[in-house]
Amino acid sequence: MSTLSTLPPKPPTQLKAQVNALNFYYGDFQALKSIYFPVEKNQVTALIGPSGCGKSTFLRCFNRMHDLYPNMRYEGEILLYPDAINIVDRHVDPIEVRMRISMVFQKPNPFPKSIYENVAYGLRVRGERLRQVIDEKVEDALRAAALWDEVKDRLHDLAFNLSGGQQQRLCIARALATSPEILLFDEPTSALDPIATAKIEELVNELKEKVTILIVTHNMQQAARVSAYTAFMYIGELIEFDDTRKIFTNPSSRLTEEYITGRFG
Ligand SMILES: Nc1ncnc2c1ncn2[C@@H]1O[C@H](COP(=O)(O)OP(=O)(O)OP(=O)(O)O)[C@@H](O)[C@H]1O
Ligand SMILES: [Mg+2]
Repeated sequence: MSTLSTLPPKPPTQLKAQVNALNFYYGDFQALKSIYFPVEKNQVTALIGPSGCGKSTFLRCFNRMHDLYPNMRYEGEILLYPDAINIVDRHVDPIEVRMRISMVFQKPNPFPKSIYENVAYGLRVRGERLRQVIDEKVEDALRAAALWDEVKDRLHDLAFNLSGGQQQRLCIARALATSPEILLFDEPTSALDPIATAKIEELVNELKEKVTILIVTHNMQQAARVSAYTAFMYIGELIEFDDTRKIFTNPSSRLTEEYITGRFG
């Protein structure tokens, strides 16, 4: 008997986003091919697949990062709930999308500003002027990113003086300060040591209470540890999407199995 059938049923979930027939082109090159993909609210979904398969390209569609470059094109839709707006529609303002969906990158990239100002940045861009409100939100975001205790006495130090792991948590605090609905992580721990990595993984697990999370990772163990759902991509296509446990114990596709058992990639 399969061990899977003995698992308790998952509680019913709600969709935060739904990707439908998404194509993405860099000039003539089609990097994403007809992707259908549900994003469950307040869950962590992992994206895995060999280098160049389109994981980052896919993630960048969610906050319209591609719009910063010429000659790119989206087709299809990413519906963001509850309002069901199609965030890749050209009539939707990318700035508005980025307020609702924030990204944390592979390498920590704090601004050349103080710890405090890094976190306050998005609030100021949004027009917040009240010092007391900014103070509170900066503290809340630093606490949520599990960094407050380490920096509360040095908020006006330059962010670059923090360790790599601290800088990454600062970038998470910066992303959280404006209360995004979805947080995108593109290999957030690949530049970190195992202890800093464990901290970020713990944090991801806590953050899903507040925010929906998509995370790209090359690390199979990490995907298995942090996510409820996993998507396997291969050359611009979504090959398989399922419960993480199913993907790692009994994938439906032979390609998925070959990838997770390390036979290629
Ligand atoms: N700015 C760009 N212009 C043209 N092609 C691009 C651009 N960025 C990425 N590509 C191509 O799109 C495809 C997907 O790249 P992408 O960076 O999304 O892959 P990835 O899965 O994130 O890979 P990795 O695991 O190495 O980060 C690759 O063939 C890549 O060469
Ligand atoms: Mg990538």
